[in-house]
Amino acid sequence: MKRAKALRKMATCLFVAAFLAMISWMLYDILQRDSSISNDTNVLVMGTNATFKPFEYKDGGQVVGFDVELAQAIAKDMGKELKIEDMSFDGLLPALESGQIDMAVAGMSVTSEREKNALFSDPYYQASQRIIVPKNSKIANKYQLEHKKIAVQLGTTGDQAASKIKGAQVVQFPAAPNALQELAAGKVDAAVIDDAPAKQYVSGFPSLKIINTPLSSESYAIAFKKGNTELAEHANKTIANMKADGRYQALLQKYFGTAKEQAP
Ligand code: ARG
Repeated sequence: MKRAKALRKMATCLFVAAFLAMISWMLYDILQRDSSISNDTNVLVMGTNATFKPFEYKDGGQVVGFDVELAQAIAKDMGKELKIEDMSFDGLLPALESGQIDMAVAGMSVTSEREKNALFSDPYYQASQRIIVPKNSKIANKYQLEHKKIAVQLGTTGDQAASKIKGAQVVQFPAAPNALQELAAGKVDAAVIDDAPAKQYVSGFPSLKIINTPLSSESYAIAFKKGNTELAEHANKTIANMKADGRYQALLQKYFGTAKEQAP
């Protein structure tokens, strides 16, 4: 009788110990996973959305572009290896927040709304939003966009600009080229996307044109998690050095064919 009781007690103890061991192992695993990227001191993780030529795009499965080279220079100056996470544009700021990425380098425009949730580097490129329409369209300015169907990339400043147009029906796509495809197929009246990608992608759609007057003026900067001033300072230093020693102008030359264009 006594022995049976003792045995039962021992079994309970063993069970509790095993249970506690399992819980702590699970916790350890979760904590490890959560910090596995950003806490690897040798790696700098850049998040982007590679549908934005010439800033970031895929070339033979590889993510390349102006932003990639900028990020590579920052990583090199810090003695780190650059890792790229290609994701949806509207997922970038949440990914910064959760620590999945260290910086978002994605032709991201500085806005006061985004500044509430992220820290921005010094601006590295001056951009604007442009209206794209079919060549035979009667639309010639933003006023004529009222009550029209407009294609945009989800979560971009183009999306915000289009949403402000009176009565406009905004159709959101995962990438700028999808928005242009929809426009070329005659399913929307116009598209609103950034000037440089517009120029690159519209050249592949002979039926489309870009309206000259810009819809906005914006600055691209690198976004970091709020409070990560150390990394922002590293990035600012690299950007400043690149401008001073000609590497920045060489990048403009490589991706835009002109060194003069758009240095803020
Ligand atoms: N400049 C715009 C913005 O900040 C669009 C950026 C889109 N970038 C991209 N990699 N797809 O909202």
